[in-house]
Amino acid sequence: MRGKAILMAAACLFAAQNAWAADTTQQVVNKAPNGLAQTPPMGWNSWNKFACNISEQTVRATADSMVTTGMKDAGYEYVVIDDCWHGPRDDNGFITADPVKFPSGIKALSDYVHSKGLKFGIYSDAGRQTCGGRPGSQGHEYQDALTYARWGVDYLKYDWCDTGTRNAEEAYAVMADALRASGRPIVFSLCEWGTARPWLWARNTGNLWRTTGDIWDSFDKNDKEHSWANSVTKIVDLNEPLWPFAGPGHWNDPDMLEVGNGGMTPAEYRSHFSLWAMMAAPLMAGNDIAKMDESTRSILLNKEAIAVDQDRLGAQGHRVAKDGDKEVWVKPLSGGGRAVLLFNRGATPVSITVENDDLGYASGMRAKVRDLWAHKDAGNWKGSYSATVEPHGVVMLRLNP
Ligand code: GLA
Repeated sequence: MRGKAILMAAACLFAAQNAWAADTTQQVVNKAPNGLAQTPPMGWNSWNKFACNISEQTVRATADSMVTTGMKDAGYEYVVIDDCWHGPRDDNGFITADPVKFPSGIKALSDYVHSKGLKFGIYSDAGRQTCGGRPGSQGHEYQDALTYARWGVDYLKYDWCDTGTRNAEEAYAVMADALRASGRPIVFSLCEWGTARPWLWARNTGNLWRTTGDIWDSFDKNDKEHSWANSVTKIVDLNEPLWPFAGPGHWNDPDMLEVGNGGMTPAEYRSHFSLWAMMAAPLMAGNDIAKMDESTRSILLNKEAIAVDQDRLGAQGHRVAKDGDKEVWVKPLSGGGRAVLLFNRGATPVSITVENDDLGYASGMRAKVRDLWAHKDAGNWKGSYSATVEPHGVVMLRLNP
């Protein structure tokens, strides 16, 4: 009897240890960071401009323009095809490309993008169908991850349509594991719109997570017919409080850029771009790069604003002062510097002031001030700085101690 009890106890202990070991292994697997996106990803995504109206010609032309316009040199790296590239699954369940829009296949397109010195991204969905009604990855996660790796995919945006009763944390972990098992380093972009508060759990699952519904090409008008669509200022107010959750390898994603798509004034687009840079947001251009005008170019290619976004400290800046429409934003930079945004949400010009206290600087702190849109030095820091800010506009500064 006693011997049997000992055996049973030993068996239980063994089982418990095994369960513990399996559990720990699982945790280790889930927590292994992929080491990617140490600064917010930069690139281009097809959705905001082209929606489902995409083809391999459009993607190739965009890759060409990324190089010829200087976007690549400015740091834009990933060329991402969003929804609607898919054809049906084949008899073995492998996903294929739409044979009409992508007759050469995705591997050939990926090779082309790589030949330009850029990286290649693709889109899928954690549900049965994508938001555009194409095949989703549910039940095919490992198969799809393997296909993407074979195609040379470097970035996966993974959406949340048609997910039924799925649990987001679990569903995204399955694809994260599948991507890791594929053996190819792939940036994992969660597009769950913030519903299940991914900032609380996605840090060890993916490299970036959407915090809101879709962006709408407007400064402050929210489209009543499309409740999922959010103006820039609405997104800003949703994404701003999440600043403690961002850092190297894991970023809040307030959605892709609308700069150049025609719904905002140049001042508003400068604000949009500056706020994204202050929030260490991914900078995914969403316009037709092959046809962009000088104004759009001057915004997307503002290397001084991009440097704020890409600062290696990886801190997300946030609002430190608000007085009606007048806002002061600060982003700590590596080396003790600060990026400062004086933001006027109103329709008339106003004077906005930033002070030592806003920056966490002691009085007497010495620093040089640089105006990042005027591209001019603006003298020495004297404990405060005031500027007149145009309607819906910004003055963006960098303080270098
Ligand atoms: C969702 C996403 C968008 C885009 C579309 C594609 O709405 O949030 O960014 O990917 O799906 O259908």
